[in-house]
Amino acid sequence: MKRVGLKWLAGVVVWGACLGAAQAQEGVGDVVYVPTPQIVVDTMLKMAKVGASDYIIDLGSGDGRIVITAAKQYGARGFGVDLDTVLLKIANDTARREGIADRAHFVEENLFKTDLSKATVVSTYLLPEMNEKLRPRILALKPGTRVIAHDYHMGEWRPDDNDTLSVPEKTVGNPGVSYIYMWYVPANAAGKWKGSATVGRQTLALDIDFGQRFQMLSGKALINQKPAEIMSGRLRGEDVTFWLNTGSGAASVRHEFNGKVTGDTISGTVRIHAGKNVEQAPFTAKRTAQGKVDITSAPDAAPVGVRGATVASR
Ligand SMILES: C[S@@+](CC[C@H](N)C(=O)[O-])C[C@H]1O[C@@H](n2cnc3c(N)ncnc32)[C@H](O)[C@@H]1O
Repeated sequence: MKRVGLKWLAGVVVWGACLGAAQAQEGVGDVVYVPTPQIVVDTMLKMAKVGASDYIIDLGSGDGRIVITAAKQYGARGFGVDLDTVLLKIANDTARREGIADRAHFVEENLFKTDLSKATVVSTYLLPEMNEKLRPRILALKPGTRVIAHDYHMGEWRPDDNDTLSVPEKTVGNPGVSYIYMWYVPANAAGKWKGSATVGRQTLALDIDFGQRFQMLSGKALINQKPAEIMSGRLRGEDVTFWLNTGSGAASVRHEFNGKVTGDTISGTVRIHAGKNVEQAPFTAKRTAQGKVDITSAPDAAPVGVRGATVASR
């Protein structure tokens, strides 16, 4: 077992000092070992709706509790990686003891080299700079892959869901509090689209040019050649929602689109709100020019966390 220098996040209360005898390992690599409290593990797995068809990979798996709970409680399969051979043995022994070693195993590997291609869920309890370093590889995974992280965010990639738990026994990070973040790997919807929807006897011709930053959509659009403002555009995996607004004041019309992006096709429904009148119709659109998703960091942007959310007692 090779011990390398531990990096530490300035200002964060030292994690390792408070570990009990059963957790006497320090972990090896880029961050020390601290187990995620079981109540937090349970909430993370519930938030990600982990089920029997999932394949979960825990990056820096410690005693294996995240993958072991996913396998035991929800019938998921998966593996964890760590560099600490003592923790890896504890994790594999627990999996065997719990009778789930065929579905959960733990291997000695640097998490920055792990092949993530089988994952439907990726979990981390790592420092933010480690999450951000992993970010491009995670964003390249299949759309809809969920990422769940304990305590630390992914920089400017805003979480799709989050929770804040009161965990009185937690003495590290922000003592007594655990933050949970979740993201869906977004599909690529960037580029130019042409589509239509038929509402009663009226056909709407749609020309949309989506810009995409992480899961957020903006850009320009025309409905029947008239400018429409794109609002509330976002992806959750392949699921896309956006509004196209035309007119103003009493003549304003809001077109609420909900659909699925499958390669170069979007299909779904549009609800058209004009005054008190609401109509619904199916729509489809085809991509005519591919765009590039912006996943770069703005040099002086503040990291996007959701700290300060109400602490919920459990
Ligand atoms: C904070 S602990 C989290 C443990 C577990 N995921 C949990 O939530 O209970 C981080 C773990 O990452 C491991 N680790 C740190 N750097 C690593 C690296 N480069 N590759 C693999 N594991 C690493 C440490 O040994 C430690 O066990």
